[in-house]
Amino acid sequence: MVDLSIGTPVDDTPGVLRAALAEAADAPGYPTALGTAALRTAAAGWLRRRLGVQVADPVGADPSVIPTVGSKELVALLPTLLGLQGSATTVVVPEVAYPTYEVGAVLAGLAVRRADTLPADAAGISLVWLNSPGNPHGRVLTDDELRAWVAWGRAHDVPVVADECYITLGWDVAPRSILHPAVAGEDHTGLLAVHSLSKQSTAAGYRGGLLSGDPALVRRVWEVRRHLGLLVPGPVQAAMAAAFDDDAHVDAQRERYRGRRERLAAAVRAAGMRIDHSEAGLYLWATRDEDCWGTIDRLAALGIVVAPGSFYGPAGARHVRLALTATDERIVAAVERLTA
Ligand SMILES: Cc1ncc(COP(=O)(O)O)c(C=O)c1O
Repeated sequence: MVDLSIGTPVDDTPGVLRAALAEAADAPGYPTALGTAALRTAAAGWLRRRLGVQVADPVGADPSVIPTVGSKELVALLPTLLGLQGSATTVVVPEVAYPTYEVGAVLAGLAVRRADTLPADAAGISLVWLNSPGNPHGRVLTDDELRAWVAWGRAHDVPVVADECYITLGWDVAPRSILHPAVAGEDHTGLLAVHSLSKQSTAAGYRGGLLSGDPALVRRVWEVRRHLGLLVPGPVQAAMAAAFDDDAHVDAQRERYRGRRERLAAAVRAAGMRIDHSEAGLYLWATRDEDCWGTIDRLAALGIVVAPGSFYGPAGARHVRLALTATDERIVAAVERLTA
């Protein structure tokens, strides 16, 4: 079997993270929800260096960046952490989306609206999720699209949160952060960004993520997280700081994914499928212009397992998602079967 259904990294966690984790293994005291000053400083440095984002003082009185236990828990808990439960409001999520945005809304008792365009009527909307580069389709929002969402959120006093966990994996375009000055201006009011080490640093097992942006919103989230014990373990915080200080391992991993993407994309096209979007991120969003389960059956007959697009929303029902997270050996096996 070649399993391309789940995007779990398979390459070795880079030495720079492992060494920092081991070095910090003596951890008798509780970590803080706020994160160490070293981690927040390294994270702010990474945001500036790699994404062109200048957050407010990362060690100032109001935090502009805090660690999260991977980004999934933050995605699932954010409506609750922002105190939206019981408000009978609606969370806007992308039309075709990572399911956890909906999980978070349902958990807080809120309604969900799937939309890729600005809602004409803002009544009852309390939170907007963007995801660029997107899972499952790898679509990247343009600066104009991001600016329009920012302006909409500010006009209606609705926080806009961008999940950017694939932002280091732009192939045909360079994804932009919602916190970049070309999008947000110099002010992050009403805006949050979510990042993760899982994919860029091949460290999903460490559970290291970040929330950054509007210090007033980050503070609100952080204060609840302290009381819930949503703490990133101290050794992981040390590994995260080391990871954010080092670009080489991120670039090396990116090249691994680039090679897999090129080989697999050529084979998918040779097998008669069309690839839509997929200009960034860790997936190919492919279709035979048929119901996704028909495509899944055909690929399963070759021993290739992929994810059904319908899993990500009704509009995904004619696509399948192929993850680039298999080993080179498994990608070669998939290519051989697709082109035989
Ligand atoms: C869009 C998106 N957001 C968040 C996550 C969560 O990743 P993690 O919890 O490993 O940071 C994933 C995982 O695949 C994802 O695809």
